[in-house]
Amino acid sequence: MLHAITRAVSPAIVDCELTHLERTPIDLEVARSQHAAYEATIADLGARVQQLPAEPDLPDSVFVEDVAVVLDEVAIITRPGAASRRGERTTIEEALAPHRHLARIGTPGTLDGGDVLVTGRDIAIGISSRSDLEGIEQFRAIAVRHGYRVHAIRVRGCLHLKSAVASVDDDTLLLDPDRIRPDDLPNRRCLTVDPREPDAANVLQLDGTVVAAAAFPRTVDKLADAGHDVRVVEVSELAKAEGALTCCSLLIDVPQP
Ligand code: GLY
Repeated sequence: MLHAITRAVSPAIVDCELTHLERTPIDLEVARSQHAAYEATIADLGARVQQLPAEPDLPDSVFVEDVAVVLDEVAIITRPGAASRRGERTTIEEALAPHRHLARIGTPGTLDGGDVLVTGRDIAIGISSRSDLEGIEQFRAIAVRHGYRVHAIRVRGCLHLKSAVASVDDDTLLLDPDRIRPDDLPNRRCLTVDPREPDAANVLQLDGTVVAAAAFPRTVDKLADAGHDVRVVEVSELAKAEGALTCCSLLIDVPQP
């Protein structure tokens, strides 16, 4: 069974970190209702959703993906690159502890889960403004013990690696070729986003369905034409906080009770 940890949108989201976007007003109520629709979609696709309470003092805390990477064998608690996000770890550790042995990225390394793309036993990690070589080496030391191969890829022109590439099924990636070279991610079939929608790559794959953002209809059509079952969700207010679909959940395979 798939367990999904989410967190309610913080009332402080208007003060979120921004790296590549200009600050524009975020409607908190709309953000909350879009987030609720996202949770309903992943629940409808079979995930058991555990929503953590909102964190009034942690603006980016809805983006739970950045704080941990959950592998079958271990959950790696990250050390987010933005200092303002490090307080998000305590409650995520508590939520993950019943499901996985925990390991941690420590000082001085930094790593955001949004930079970590797991495809089978291969893990690509973006070297970005949030994830540095020290954090990646610490991650590698943990992951290789469990039989994973870790590859570092330089991220250009976006916040995280998964801003520009994500999985649409076990063998196929969706990417923006202007920011990620398919050669950087060997042994995978690559679909490309519509060139007018460079930010469309961050989709969430869940039980054979691809959850995609409503802002990118041309890429949604491309995915459907390629034979993928696509569900569309509106996340425009969360996108203003430089977050996307994978950011809003931590997915954990758990044994059936
Ligand atoms: N606002 C999302 C982040 O910077 O982590």
